Amino acid sequence: MRRVVQFSTGNVGRHSLRAIIGRSDLELVGVHASGPSKIGRDAAELCDWNEPTGVIATDDVDALIALRPDCVVYTALAETRPMEAIEELSKILAAGIDVVGTSFVWMAAPRYAGDWVREPLEKACAAGGSSLYINGIDPGYSGDTLVHTALSLATRVATITVQEIFDYANYDDAEYTGAAMGFGVSEDDELPPLYLPGVVESMWGGQVRSLADGLGITLDEVRQRTERWFTPERIDCTMMTVHPGQMAAVRFATEGVLDGRVVITLEHVNRLTAAAAPEWDFPPDGHVGVHRVVIDGDPRVEVNTHVSHPVLDPTDAGCISTAARVVNAIDWVCDAPVGLVAVEDIPQAAIIKGLMWAPDREPQLPV
Ligand SMILES: NC(=O)c1ccc[n+]([C@@H]2O[C@H](COP(=O)([O-])OP(=O)(O)OC[C@H]3O[C@@H](n4cnc5c(N)ncnc54)[C@H](OP(=O)(O)O)[C@@H]3O)[C@@H](O)[C@H]2O)c1
Repeated sequence: MRRVVQFSTGNVGRHSLRAIIGRSDLELVGVHASGPSKIGRDAAELCDWNEPTGVIATDDVDALIALRPDCVVYTALAETRPMEAIEELSKILAAGIDVVGTSFVWMAAPRYAGDWVREPLEKACAAGGSSLYINGIDPGYSGDTLVHTALSLATRVATITVQEIFDYANYDDAEYTGAAMGFGVSEDDELPPLYLPGVVESMWGGQVRSLADGLGITLDEVRQRTERWFTPERIDCTMMTVHPGQMAAVRFATEGVLDGRVVITLEHVNRLTAAAAPEWDFPPDGHVGVHRVVIDGDPRVEVNTHVSHPVLDPTDAGCISTAARVVNAIDWVCDAPVGLVAVEDIPQAAIIKGLMWAPDREPQLPV
């Protein structure tokens, strides 16, 4: 039984919280919440779980460390407060507590992450004798496990194209996803940070370099491209209302170039409703979204991943999968060597244990 603290209860965190409560091989011993309306409430209330857990949300990081958990699941927003989050995470790691997390998207391929984020976290692991594993669905799964799976079916590869194509219209997250991607921003407004030189590359470039190293090739360069689409008509959706002249779709990619041609592409196509950017790629068969890899080689291999849920929006289903990528690895990471853990280190067959919950702990659907 692993004793676990869930750190944050947002889009991803409330799903990891449900998994920790539900699994009989994990024991929820603490939960962190930063929002004043959440502090002091039972963890069950923060993730729509029916039975109280007796675990009360706190914003006291020291008190959570004092519980001496085996692992902390860190899903607090980090990209808008990176230095504060590095400090918070370092404190936990230096106290000898292992961490799995979805935050710090720069760390999905940890050995290729920028020094500014990798070094302090590595040092904290060394100081505490602890391990850190960061992953997600994208960045994460689509640029690592999905690609590895597709490559296992080919004897030769010419190019690798990975895409997240997702309609975020029904995703109720204007505050972070909307703002970070620049939906609703006019062409004349200040450029959202995502489109500044090097930003996309800093987030997805590590996975491109990791794939290149895995393939045994030396890239000429890793570069980014970004393109925004501004709507001529008003678009109303759950995320927001987009007025004419404002951004309603984006396409951006990180590319690995070999001998002057692009051989590895990690691309996002994100839009608000199907009316946006009608000439860009759509998911197949009317799906809201897809995480796809296409291997051009012998043979051509295409794998399309669709996550969905009977009640929740597919984007929320993606948040469940994001949580799964790290919660499923808790047991393995708790026994891992000290330091940063990359997905390649983890035998994938070793992290399915515990996924079939006992019948008396069937998950209740969120209302
Ligand atoms: N790689 C992937 O596929 C993938 C996919 C989705 C998300 N992510 C990453 O995972 C992380 C969580 O995403 P999310 O969508 O769940 O984010 P979110 O819902 O916007 O925020 C997560 C939580 O962070 C906490 N938080 C926000 N500001 C804070 C502050 N100043 N101090 C302490 N805690 C603060 C809040 O926790 P409380 O509400 O409990 O107070 C909030 O609910 C992000 O870093 C995101 O980039 C990665």
